Amino acid sequence: MSQALPARVRIVEVGPRDGLQNEKQLIPADTKVELIRRLAAAGLTTIETTSFVSPKWVPQMGDNAEVLTRVLAAAAPGVAYPVLTPNLKGFEAALAAGATEVAVFGAASESFSQKNINCSIAESLARFRPLTEAARAAGVKVRGYVSCVAGCPYEGAIAPQAVAEVAATLREMGCYEVSLGDTIGTGNPASIARMLEAVMRRVPVECLAGHYHDTYGLAAANIYASLQMGVAVFDASVGGLGGCPYAAGASGNVATEDVAWLLDGLGIATGIELDALVDTAAWISAELGREPASRVARALLAKRAQRCA
Ligand code: HMG
Ligand code: MG
Repeated sequence: MSQALPARVRIVEVGPRDGLQNEKQLIPADTKVELIRRLAAAGLTTIETTSFVSPKWVPQMGDNAEVLTRVLAAAAPGVAYPVLTPNLKGFEAALAAGATEVAVFGAASESFSQKNINCSIAESLARFRPLTEAARAAGVKVRGYVSCVAGCPYEGAIAPQAVAEVAATLREMGCYEVSLGDTIGTGNPASIARMLEAVMRRVPVECLAGHYHDTYGLAAANIYASLQMGVAVFDASVGGLGGCPYAAGASGNVATEDVAWLLDGLGIATGIELDALVDTAAWISAELGREPASRVARALLAKRAQRCA
């Protein structure tokens, strides 16, 4: 099912949410707001800003209303700032803070669904339905996520059909896009292609996004395999930040710099300014007291340092 690569790809920056949600030290809201401002200035047009989940479950996102309100007050033109909402309570809080786009998140694995959102897959979908209806009534766009599309930390390999079933239900509920999460990064180009084949029989490829974690270093290869099948939206996290609190060992999403570098090399437009993005990766990594996980960021920063020496 290999086809011409898309001319343009949209990158959904998930660093401020997926990247930061697992950080143990509480990060000041000022830092989160500044990170989002820098990402928009670097050319990212969709920036997942925070999540309206229980602060008991994910304390790092406890400042969700403050962060979203401040970000929206200084919103860059043409930039969308979606937020995660697991239920109606989260949706109502997001709406009160001014959200115009939200995302619901389900899973293709029963065990992960229980650990992550404390309910079965069927219960989660039943919860999302009134949320998507309320969103439609309020004119709020809804994105859908399916986690564990290649593997689950508790169940191992996941059947492509299970992914397709959840993706199709999210789409039928009105999600404009379904993001396919390789939560623990165990997918490879062959298993991702099998999963996409099954999903594409139920959901048009224009409505799909790849959300690949880079735990085993195959996220870029998985993106390439997905591009060949027509996927043109990918989630990524600046500096390769992240992990999932309910998936032990899950590393960050593929780094946004690595994806931008890959796509640039393939002649695919993203609208991202790589230098500004690398500066942002270096800045947030320094704020967190570490080097960027992105090999592209590290290589470009080393090259700059050599030039200045
Ligand atoms: P629960 O305990 O089953 O909820 O949690 P409940 O409805 O029984 O309510 C219990 C308490 O939580 C009540 O408060 C509710 O008011 C409160 P109490 O009476 O005890 O004081 N509550 C809330 N508070 C704030 N915001 C809310 C909310 N809902 C209930 N929205 C719940 C269910 C879904 C809330 C919980 O399990 C939760 O917050 N889970 C979040 C997990 C999470 O954020 N995981 C990481 C994101 S998913 C991810 O990273 C994967 C992804 O990146 C894709 C991929 O990589 O695969 C998207
Ligand atoms: Mg994720």
